[in-house]
Amino acid sequence: MALAAAGNPQWTSRFAFLMAAIGSAVGLGNLWGFPFRTGQNGGSAFVLVYLLCVLLVAYPILMSELMVGRHKGLSAIESTAQLAKDSGKSANWGIVGVVGVFGAFLLLTTYSVIAGQVMAFGVMSTTGGFSGGPGAGLYDGTLMPLLWHTIFMAMTIFVVAQGLHNGIERFVTILMPAFFVMLAGLCIYSLVNGASGQALSYLFEPRFDEVTPSVVLAAMGQAFFSLSLGCATMITYGTFLSQDENIASSGGLIAGSDTLVAVISGLMIFPIVFAFDLDPAQGFGLMFSAMPAVFTEMPGGAFIGATFFVLALVAALTSAISLLIVAAIAGQNYTGLGKAGSAIVFGGAVWLVGAATIFISGLGANIDFFANSIALPVGGLLVAVLVGWVAPSAAMRGELPHASDRLFSAWRFLVRYVAPVAITITLILGLDQRFGFGLNRALASLTG
Ligand code: PFF
Repeated sequence: MALAAAGNPQWTSRFAFLMAAIGSAVGLGNLWGFPFRTGQNGGSAFVLVYLLCVLLVAYPILMSELMVGRHKGLSAIESTAQLAKDSGKSANWGIVGVVGVFGAFLLLTTYSVIAGQVMAFGVMSTTGGFSGGPGAGLYDGTLMPLLWHTIFMAMTIFVVAQGLHNGIERFVTILMPAFFVMLAGLCIYSLVNGASGQALSYLFEPRFDEVTPSVVLAAMGQAFFSLSLGCATMITYGTFLSQDENIASSGGLIAGSDTLVAVISGLMIFPIVFAFDLDPAQGFGLMFSAMPAVFTEMPGGAFIGATFFVLALVAALTSAISLLIVAAIAGQNYTGLGKAGSAIVFGGAVWLVGAATIFISGLGANIDFFANSIALPVGGLLVAVLVGWVAPSAAMRGELPHASDRLFSAWRFLVRYVAPVAITITLILGLDQRFGFGLNRALASLTG
């Protein structure tokens, strides 16, 4: 039966849950996406809008996903269907879970290819491969990227196949504390050895005139991706939660830690960017080729460079695990496969589509656009509508027993009105940016 298949194992401790959820949230999106988008969107203006998006939209949705998951404790698809059914509404609301599972699957296909590249660059930066030393060419052609993608997916499948307790919990409870130690060390190193004053003013000095619709769009997309929202990940992690977990406070810890890591990543990267006159708006290259190049010129550079890539690998792996488990658990429910079988079959399918993106040009970009600009916001919007409009208020109140009436009303207001409006606007602006109906341009001219 489905209930038994979902297995409903529970987190062994609050610590394990928090490390897994923070591990999911903290990923390449924090280390690379946040500094890169900050660089492209006018520094502090972006940071400020980002913080507002997290507080007013992402955090309430994060709470909602955890609440929906815990409410029924079934897989993401069944939990959402069942919640609607219990509320006297159609079980077709399971579509919320379907969109999420599909989004998670797609997201992982390209995430794994990028994580593979990070690993390759890590090896190259420590062997001198970038300056023609051993390891040069480790990411050349199509077969090398395929190999690295394969290694990364194999690691992800290996962890997920061992299940919640022996796999995921065991890895995240070791890797995440190590991650924080490495991050703190690198950030201090960079602030001491780099151009920290310039970095601080770039990140934090307010420049409100630079806030345009495209900055808001980038900030909202980044907030969703960074907090792992809209793709059933937090619903799935919520299904393992016990009834005593205080979702408002743990959600706050997850959102707060994720945001802190994003800002600390900025503080780790920009002092070096400015000290070496790199272009802050350079994108992927900023993180994974410019940085390794300058490490070699810094004191203790080889060690620092290696630590930097281990940090990125840990971040990517704990996020990928959370993406695969969404599909693996849903798969377990619908195919009758065991947990290892489901992880292997669905992980294998992710691997296949990821491999196709390496060989078919443009496919990866289309998948990225579809996953990030359509599936994630639609998934988040549906969650907001489900908890804010479909489910009765009393059922949701039962999931936040520790919250004061004021906090509950604030959460409800945000998920009923603010989040749906904000996400719908983001969706439209995202489609416009891609297909060019002229909306972004018109808005930009209005705001001067
Ligand atoms: N939050 C991850 C990051 O910032 O890299 C990416 C991610 C993981 C997105 C899991 C969505 C998800 F469900």
